[in-house]
Amino acid sequence: MKIDVLTIFPEMLEPVVQSSISRIAQEKELVDISVHNIRRFSDAKHGKTDDYPFGGGAGMVMTPQPLWDALSVIFPDDVSRKRARIVFPTPDGQHFKQKTAELLAKEEHLVFICGHYKGIDQRIRDYWIDQEISIGEYVLTSGEIAALVIIDAVVRLIPGVLGNSESAEGDSYSYPLLDCPWYTRPDTFHSLSVPEVLLSGHHKHILQWRIEKRREKTKINNPRLYQRYLQQTALEDLIIKGEK
Ligand code: ADE
Repeated sequence: MKIDVLTIFPEMLEPVVQSSISRIAQEKELVDISVHNIRRFSDAKHGKTDDYPFGGGAGMVMTPQPLWDALSVIFPDDVSRKRARIVFPTPDGQHFKQKTAELLAKEEHLVFICGHYKGIDQRIRDYWIDQEISIGEYVLTSGEIAALVIIDAVVRLIPGVLGNSESAEGDSYSYPLLDCPWYTRPDTFHSLSVPEVLLSGHHKHILQWRIEKRREKTKINNPRLYQRYLQQTALEDLIIKGEK
């Protein structure tokens, strides 16, 4: 997968995309991430990239020219444009979910536009952007952190990026329940011990304990997901009994 990120703060992104999962994915040549400084494409004095909003109002809007020119360099022809998905992280976008990450992980080429201030000129959104994504119901100062969140969630789902031991299977949100507690050595630490069942070697009991812990945690931390899980299991029971 090719990932291009357009930003006025490349220094915010570069250390992150050069570490952890993104670095491993790039070393394995499964992903190629390029960070582009939008200012380099600006025709205005001192690489200016924002201006006052027409009609008035507080805050600045990112001007269309540098973004348009940067996108025209990334997409020299229609074929490259058709093969890509342009994502704009924004608090007024659609909610980012594990399913969104799964779909984006199937793309050949992703382009992220990081907005600042009041956002970007609407004409760029109308003409270029394929998908507007919000990572949560709060407002960050910039799109960079949101783009990094999305990139991290997507890259780890690309086949071959995670080793077997780190597999994404059973993650909270790719499974219908949130994750269970995990423990490692030592079995007693500062007089805090590990639940006995995990040391029992009894695989069926361990599995039952993990499912129970997942249920308990989901019921408390995400009641909506828990309700969906209950409906799903009730439906599966009916199907097994041949009533649906
Ligand atoms: N930019 C600022 N806040 C954001 C959010 N919640 N999601 C995506 N992009 C953003």
